[in-house]
Amino acid sequence: MDKKINDILILLCKGISNRKLYFPGHPKVISYAETFCRELAAFFLMSKKEEFFVGIIDGHFIFNGKRLFGPTVVGRQLIQFMEMLRCGGVSFKKDLTLDDVSAFMDLTDGLRTPLNSLQEARDLFKHKGILSITLAGHYNDQLMTGAPDSKRPWEGQETGGFLQSPTLIYQALFDVVTRAYGDAAYNRELDIDSARSVSQFMLHFTQQNFADVMQYIHYPDYDSYTIGHSVRVSSIAVFLGMKMSWPEESILAIGTAALLHDIGKSKILPEILYKKSSLSDDEFRLIQDHPKVGTELLLAQKDVSPLDIAAAWGHHQRYDGRGYPHKPAWTVRSPPIALLQICDVFEALTAVRPYKQAMDPQRAFSVMIADKGAFHPNLLSAFISLIGIYPPGTYVELSDGRIGMVTGAGKIIDRPQLRITCLRDGTHLKKEDQYDVDLGTTNRTSLSLKVKRLLLNYLATEQ
Ligand SMILES: [Fe+2]
Ligand SMILES: [Fe+2]
Repeated sequence: MDKKINDILILLCKGISNRKLYFPGHPKVISYAETFCRELAAFFLMSKKEEFFVGIIDGHFIFNGKRLFGPTVVGRQLIQFMEMLRCGGVSFKKDLTLDDVSAFMDLTDGLRTPLNSLQEARDLFKHKGILSITLAGHYNDQLMTGAPDSKRPWEGQETGGFLQSPTLIYQALFDVVTRAYGDAAYNRELDIDSARSVSQFMLHFTQQNFADVMQYIHYPDYDSYTIGHSVRVSSIAVFLGMKMSWPEESILAIGTAALLHDIGKSKILPEILYKKSSLSDDEFRLIQDHPKVGTELLLAQKDVSPLDIAAAWGHHQRYDGRGYPHKPAWTVRSPPIALLQICDVFEALTAVRPYKQAMDPQRAFSVMIADKGAFHPNLLSAFISLIGIYPPGTYVELSDGRIGMVTGAGKIIDRPQLRITCLRDGTHLKKEDQYDVDLGTTNRTSLSLKVKRLLLNYLATEQ
């Protein structure tokens, strides 16, 4: 049931972000609205409930008192919209109509400034004729008293602000790339500064606690995976830059370049980009053109850095000179781009896609090693030893049944450092009760412990 609730809400969030990318009435937007209505009808039938209510607390979607992880990551636009409406939740009634859902989605794109009160928002809904969707007050009075704030969450915040929440960082990264794709698709100017600003936050935050951001690496965002892919490639690149003690400006530069490296894909129709069956020769050529398209797109922008352009151009060029676009023999590759190429392939192999399951990191490393000449050999071996076979952010089950999140690669490759999150009897520990275990230490208790198995996609199903 939990998965169903997540899926229903994700449909709405995806519909809203597509509504921002396309025009009202675009077939893709209508299709999301229709599927959302259909799935909700099935929910009402199955649950015998009269309404589908979703609350918002501290920037997270809540259903039946439980935080919804997946929708919170992709639903930044809906959450911001609800905040602008000054409401603490939304209720979809059993008599929900497609017209109301479409009008609701149109409003998410049309409303530019926060309203003054919930009453104003309710009047607006009435005025638009939206009767089967209603708005609720806040659970928490405190949230009602804050001044309307249209700033994006990562703007003007000092480190130590609320962006210390890894969910919000991931969400902000996701949102900035979504906007960049929308702007690029419509030939609007890209907001490169926001990309830089949010990578700055990622950098500051991850210096302390990288694993928390990395845990989202396994979030299976089936039909917007170009966005998630860019965010994850960027997180991995920043992590490696930090581990290799690069200067802060270089880490920041690679983080931003990685967020935008696949921007050329914004010009490919989603029907082709997310096609599940095999591609025709023409479609394949279109996809292979994305580094060139991305480069042209970035060259037309104001505030791009040379590394942003080099990343868009060179991330599919191999160490042996093959790959695409064709690389003249006299050109020299910069180490950051060679590293980005490794991160790009590693992410693609280990992520879930509509056509494949996630591959575990160990298998991904052997596939990459077997592809002779594809990667810079020294960088690839540094990459493998820094990521480890249990990358930070992944969950593992220990031999005694406890479950923990990997917080760092251990000195011995299969003995990582962990934060225990779930006991052997299945009790999930609250954040303040979680504790660290280092399998690399030589005391008797940890020596008898070992990793039993890697839990791929654990976060998406268990929280
Ligand atoms: Fe690419
Ligand atoms: Fe990529």
